[in-house]
Amino acid sequence: MNENRPHGGKLVNRINEKARMDASHTSVELSLMELSDLELIANGAYSPLEGFMEQKEYESVVQNMRLTNGLPWSIPITLAVDKNKAAGLKCGDTINLTHKGNVYGVMNVKEIYFPDKKIEAQKVYKTTDLNHPGVKKLFERPVTYVAGPITLINRPEKETFKEHYLDPRQTREKFNELGWKTIVGFQTRNPIHRAHEYIQKTALEIVDGLFLNPLVGETKSDDIPGEIRMKSYQVLLDNYYPKDRVYLSVFSAAMRYAGPREAIFHAIVRKNFGCTHFIVGRDHAGVGNYYGTYDAQKIFSQFTEDELGIKPLFFENSFYCKKCGNMASEKTCPHTQKDRMILSGTAVRAMLKNGQYPPNEFSRKEVVEILIEGMKEVYTNS
Ligand code: ADX
Repeated sequence: MNENRPHGGKLVNRINEKARMDASHTSVELSLMELSDLELIANGAYSPLEGFMEQKEYESVVQNMRLTNGLPWSIPITLAVDKNKAAGLKCGDTINLTHKGNVYGVMNVKEIYFPDKKIEAQKVYKTTDLNHPGVKKLFERPVTYVAGPITLINRPEKETFKEHYLDPRQTREKFNELGWKTIVGFQTRNPIHRAHEYIQKTALEIVDGLFLNPLVGETKSDDIPGEIRMKSYQVLLDNYYPKDRVYLSVFSAAMRYAGPREAIFHAIVRKNFGCTHFIVGRDHAGVGNYYGTYDAQKIFSQFTEDELGIKPLFFENSFYCKKCGNMASEKTCPHTQKDRMILSGTAVRAMLKNGQYPPNEFSRKEVVEILIEGMKEVYTNS
């Protein structure tokens, strides 16, 4: 049995595909981010949340990184509804939650409120700068939040790699079948490069299994699309990882780019999927220069390991050192910057765009081939 307790003690289950929706109820259109949040609340990935946050819960999370019951929680999970539509709603209503004309869930409206987005931006993202993709999205959302418990009545259709969408109940079962007691979760929104591989394999030296859990929900437009990344993960696992020590499944949430706060959120969600450990490297979930390289590690000191219930594994910036002849970090390599191969994501994207191969010390050849091929299609279609 996987005995890793979900956050709050039990896995939430708010899926009821037999429930019938009433077409006469008001429909509220969800954004892509909200649609993925709906499913992740319902399948227990966001346990103990049972719905979109009410005002007290929201403010407690924004101000203190805790739910009102004291449990750590760092990212607000909210439903923003168009002002005119919200004006027609009242507490006690049941509403249909739709996306592009399909009804996916229902919600009992408990509260309708106006968030202070400046405070939300400053506290959650540490900036109100609209150049920050998470902040930009926050300010583009409607100004009214509508809150209440949800029920998922239809699973959103998965267009590709369907078999890699698993609910926390299923990943927990998988880990049991594999006989893993200690499992390290790895979040990524990028193709896996050698530094990722190095920190994953270093972690694998001390735990039973690696749960490779790439985020495939909404990302900013210059991140590499999920379908291409999935192919690259598969080829890497097939060629360079022991089959019985890695399990690949996707995380369908949208990327917030909230750096430190998102690292806490990512860890809690992976705990719900059954992980005991979670990797936090350099500038986890960061973007631009909004966060310090290790801010996403430092933030963990604000919580005890007991209350988080998952052990973070921190890694320093890793790189290939030509003099050492291997992957290393400041902790293990005595050489200087000029001996090290350090490529930014932007530099790598530019190389891929031009059909150039980033060096083997940065990324495996098999992975690069898939990226070049995949990105060719993206660039010709854009
Ligand atoms: S993230 O937004 O999902 O965090 P990314 O996919 O780049 O972005 O990172 C996945 C994980 O690997 C994060 O924990 C990140 O901190 C870590 N990481 C990425 N690159 C490095 C590196 N060169 N050295 C150490 N850790 C890294």
